[in-house]
Amino acid sequence: MERKFAGKVVLVSGGATGVGAASVVRFAEEGAKVAIFDRNVAAGEELAKRLSESGHKVTFFHVDVSNAQMVREGMRACIEAFDRIDVLFNHAGTILIKPFLDIETEEWDDLFAVNVRSMFLVTKAALPHMIAGGGGAIVCTSSISATAATPTEVAYNATKGACHMFARAIAVEFRDRNIRCNAVCPGFIDTPHGQKEIAALKSYGVGASEEELTARQGRAATPQEIADAVVFLASDDARFINGTHLYVDNGFTAW
Ligand SMILES: NC(=O)c1ccc[n+]([C@@H]2O[C@H](COP(=O)([O-])OP(=O)(O)OC[C@H]3O[C@@H](n4cnc5c(N)ncnc54)[C@H](O)[C@@H]3O)[C@@H](O)[C@H]2O)c1
Repeated sequence: MERKFAGKVVLVSGGATGVGAASVVRFAEEGAKVAIFDRNVAAGEELAKRLSESGHKVTFFHVDVSNAQMVREGMRACIEAFDRIDVLFNHAGTILIKPFLDIETEEWDDLFAVNVRSMFLVTKAALPHMIAGGGGAIVCTSSISATAATPTEVAYNATKGACHMFARAIAVEFRDRNIRCNAVCPGFIDTPHGQKEIAALKSYGVGASEEELTARQGRAATPQEIADAVVFLASDDARFINGTHLYVDNGFTAW
């Protein structure tokens, strides 16, 4: 069977665990060479080693994607190793759950650095290579939280709103250079991030019980279910899909 990403190079930020890792696996299975940018060295190296041992070409680069210098150096090393970039999955991100009035300015700035500045830095570094190679596809991780607000998530909601619009704005600015850019907007996912979010919401008495989650989206998504949507958006099957927001939430935002 033809593999959809044979001969392509895919860069995944936040690819060491969770949805990023599930996407690394899916892209590799579809024939891509995959570069991982992540700050979790142990998990990133372990994943790259495991996939390389089973015949895939996957390399881990230790990059904190909120840090401009590390992104510059990581991109240089990535291009040295792979020579090109066809697909960028901007996935790295984190969460802050706190009553709005308790949020410190540094916490606000840190969250924006990890969730939003990271997309600016990595996309800016990757795009010239994608354009030089004739074009490509970018997928940015947004969230149901970009359009559905939750008490104690003002900062997180605001960062995801920015990611939501970042994807759309890149799409319109770079369409003429054969770049597509879309956002994937997951509901709750069973990942370290998702588990941390649910535990923190519960600690503040914000509705996130098993029953409430079941009522809103049936169950938590698996990382693979989100990765499948990411791979679709990055593939030629989505060649006329550009600047869109694909909700993968089993109806959460449809209520
Ligand atoms: N889990 C959910 O319920 C959920 C729902 C919607 C959206 N999201 C989004 O998914 C992302 C979280 O990913 P996940 O759910 O796969 O969980 P995760 O925590 O397993 O994965 C996040 C990955 O990003 C990496 N990362 C975080 N900050 C980084 C930085 N500064 N530099 C480099 N790497 C960094 C982490 O090390 C980790 O490998 C966030 O963007 C979040 O907004 C998650």
